[in-house]
Amino acid sequence: MGKLSSKDVLRSDQFSKDEITLILETARRYEAAVDAGEVLDVMKGKVLSTLFFEPSTRTRLSFETAMLRLGGGVITVAEARSSSAAKGESLHDTIKTVEGYADVIVLRHPQIGAAKEAAEATHRPVLNAGDGAGQHPTQSLLDLYTILKEQGKVDGLRIALTGDLKNGRTVHSLALLLSNYDVSFLFVAPDALKMPREIVEQVKAAGVDVAETDDLATAIREADVLYMTRIQKERFEDTAEYDRLKDAFILRRAMLSEAKSNFTIMHPLPRVNEIETDVDDHSGAAYFRQSANGVPIRMALLALVTGRA
Ligand code: NCD
Repeated sequence: MGKLSSKDVLRSDQFSKDEITLILETARRYEAAVDAGEVLDVMKGKVLSTLFFEPSTRTRLSFETAMLRLGGGVITVAEARSSSAAKGESLHDTIKTVEGYADVIVLRHPQIGAAKEAAEATHRPVLNAGDGAGQHPTQSLLDLYTILKEQGKVDGLRIALTGDLKNGRTVHSLALLLSNYDVSFLFVAPDALKMPREIVEQVKAAGVDVAETDDLATAIREADVLYMTRIQKERFEDTAEYDRLKDAFILRRAMLSEAKSNFTIMHPLPRVNEIETDVDDHSGAAYFRQSANGVPIRMALLALVTGRA
């Protein structure tokens, strides 16, 4: 049985460096196989359940594509409204029910800690596809995979994480995951949306250099990779506060003249207005390649946690 067999994927800081390498290598192998037109049956006879109690396009569809590419089957709840959660069923009971149908469970939920709670309710592997403003570990793995593909390396890079660092779960997971590498960080956010202190402390404790600023221009000049994020409207209690911050950072094509020649621009998507569309045909604009990378990474994760890789 492999390293990650029967494991849950709840946080990006749960992985050893060896496990990260194994996931990346497995993803690379599957991506090459799919590109070569191979039809895979690694997950034949297995069923994935995707339970999405918050909106999603990429995460759910790429998990489902991953399972189908591996020859497995998928059952899905794409809306809390359409499940018994709307009738007041507890997460525990939903998960106990789904464990009777599926071999592996992917959960997105508005509450921090929901994936952990789900994992405690079942012996099936649970993969956290976003728990509120908490973590999004599978996204951070595809982000890392993207950086490797775009830049050819991770060590030595200066990486700017920009936008809603307080509420953005993708940047929480990515900062912690990249702390396994020899990178330096620039955290770019307005004061009200700064990276949570416990993540800054954890990153520093791992020996990674962190600078914080509210100046996007500095980030464009200094960074190798600029990771933009959406201001997370749904996490604001006060809409006036959201309105005050929603245009905090907008990346425009003209701003890129100061960037390094092999600059990489990433975004987990969806974007609202934080990257203007005239940036899209810049050679470093990697965000749609990034979303496609979700498929091989999620193929690797599904196969590894079910012991089929
Ligand atoms: C992100 C998410 O859901 O956290 N989207 C994604 O999974 N690709 C980012 C966001 O919603 O802003």
